[in-house]
Amino acid sequence: MIAIYPGSFDPVTLGHLDIIQRGAKLFERVIVAVLRNPNKTPLFTVQQRIEQIRQSTRHLPNVEADSFDGLTVNYAQMRQAQVLLRGLRAISDFEVELQMAHTNNTLSTQIETVFLATSNEYSFLSSSVVKEIAKFGGSVNHLVPPHVALDIYQCYAHKYQSNPNTTENIPSPKNLSTEPLLEIHNQKDV
Ligand code: PNS
Repeated sequence: MIAIYPGSFDPVTLGHLDIIQRGAKLFERVIVAVLRNPNKTPLFTVQQRIEQIRQSTRHLPNVEADSFDGLTVNYAQMRQAQVLLRGLRAISDFEVELQMAHTNNTLSTQIETVFLATSNEYSFLSSSVVKEIAKFGGSVNHLVPPHVALDIYQCYAHKYQSNPNTTENIPSPKNLSTEPLLEIHNQKDV
C-alpha cells in the first residue's frame, strides 16, 4: 500500500521525521509531498524543502520526496496511493485534521486518511515553533536534523546581514557549529 504524507514542511522537523519513519514501517512506500502553495511566503523554496527531506530520509529506502499543487486527493490518485498519512499531536490538531479527512473523503472515497499519534517528545513541535525560536537567535538543534538547523541559521544570518536594523537576532557562532548538532542527530537516530 502506498501512502502520501502531505504538508508544508517549512522546514521538516524531527516530529515529521518521526511520522515518516513509523509510516515507512507500515506502508510499502511513503511519498512525502510538499505542497506548492502560492498563497504562502515560506522560509525555504519547495526545492530546498524537498532536498532537506531527501537528506533526512536517506536511510529509508521506501521513502521519497516530491511536490504537488492542487488537491491532495488528486495527487494521491495520480501516484496510485490509497492512504493519506497525517500526524496528530494534540486535541487542537484533531479538529482541523478531522475536517480535512472528512473533506478529502467527500472528494474521493478511494483514499483513506490514517493518523499516527506523534511521539510524546514531539507533541509540542511544529515548523512554526522552529522558525520562531531561530528568528530570535535560539538554538533549534534539538528540533530538526543538523543539516536543516544549518540551513535555518544561514537563512536568518543572511536575512540579518541584508537588514541589520531587523529586530531578529543573528544566531550566535555557537549555534552555527555542526558538532553539537551531529551529536544530537546521532542520539535521535533519524
Ligand atoms: O503541513 P500543513 O500545512 O499542515 O499541511 C496541510 C496540507 C498541505 C496537508 C493541506 O493544506 C492540503 O492538503 N492542501 C491541499 C489542498 C487540498 O487538498 N484541500 C482539501 C483538503 S482541506
